[in-house]
Amino acid sequence: MSENKTQAFDIKKAAESKIANVDFENLAFGNIFTDHMLYCDYKDGEWGTPVICPYAPIEMDPSSRVFHYGQAIFEGMKAYKDEQDDIWLFRPDENFIRFNKSATRLAMPEVPEEVFMEGLKQLINIDKEWVRKGKGNSLYLRPFMIATGHGVIAAPSAQYRFMIILSPAKSYYTGEVKVLIAEHFSRAANGGIGAAKAAGNYSAQFYPTRLANQQGYQQVIWTDDATHTKLEEAGTMNVFFRINDTLYTAPTSERILDGVTRKSIIDLAKREGINVEVRSVLVDELLAAAKDGSLKEMFGAGTAAVVNPIVGFSYQDTYYELPKQDKPLSLEIKDKLTNIQYKLAEDTFGWTVKI
Ligand code: COI
Repeated sequence: MSENKTQAFDIKKAAESKIANVDFENLAFGNIFTDHMLYCDYKDGEWGTPVICPYAPIEMDPSSRVFHYGQAIFEGMKAYKDEQDDIWLFRPDENFIRFNKSATRLAMPEVPEEVFMEGLKQLINIDKEWVRKGKGNSLYLRPFMIATGHGVIAAPSAQYRFMIILSPAKSYYTGEVKVLIAEHFSRAANGGIGAAKAAGNYSAQFYPTRLANQQGYQQVIWTDDATHTKLEEAGTMNVFFRINDTLYTAPTSERILDGVTRKSIIDLAKREGINVEVRSVLVDELLAAAKDGSLKEMFGAGTAAVVNPIVGFSYQDTYYELPKQDKPLSLEIKDKLTNIQYKLAEDTFGWTVKI
């Protein structure tokens, strides 16, 4: 990461740390936050000085646009500690680029690279004790931006707040993941905001996901809005299918998030000599493959969830259980990916960045 600090940061440290009260072995995802947070305000067409201060509630005008029109975007990233106590980020440039693409789509200002990257670096360094060693431990990084401008007119805000908060994390999903294939609800539509990491893309999933939960499924596999015949994403993750020995995942589009874990898996699998096809998989194809036994595995991939095996899926009230694999490809890929992230294997791709 850049050593040139062109951006001054205003740093106010917490009087004492909360870390002694945290049970790092029993962390519910995204529930506990470190001692500090970062914020940087945008007004009159420019970004102010980034501030790092004790983690605390923020005060906002009730008419702030984010409350009324959901003008909000975020990123999900992780920091990992290696055996030498060095801390690493994984492809942070990808998150930075995607963040500003999301900003443009939501009519928000782009965040300067120094504020995003140097902000992450400085904040993580201040809270570095919160990054625990050992595979499976990480610090989940949540950069986000909200519209703070006053007034309920339905137009882009003139004021914004960029923030970063940090949360020690273990796994996102605990236990088996069974999914329900969407027949009616959609995550995104062409021309919409599906490719942006917009807050509204996630809240729109809550209701259909709750209905799926009530039927015993942890997530929904989203299908295309026009025909509900193409398999697109799994809940909060991109989705992969292993049919015989080929891995399939949908191409990115206006409806599908360009996941960093997704694109890393594609590159890793190809390097390992695995046949990867980036194309839409049809529901009918999946049903046929489940019936004739050629569907070997399904898994979700995302920063929070990493690689999450799916044990079965339901479609039109029929449940299809996937066969157990002696050596699941999903776990082999997860191992290879996390070995790079935790610096346990050589990073031939140049994906890891020391902070
Ligand atoms: C991530 O995987 O980081 C995400 O952004 C998904 C989130 C809903 C936890």
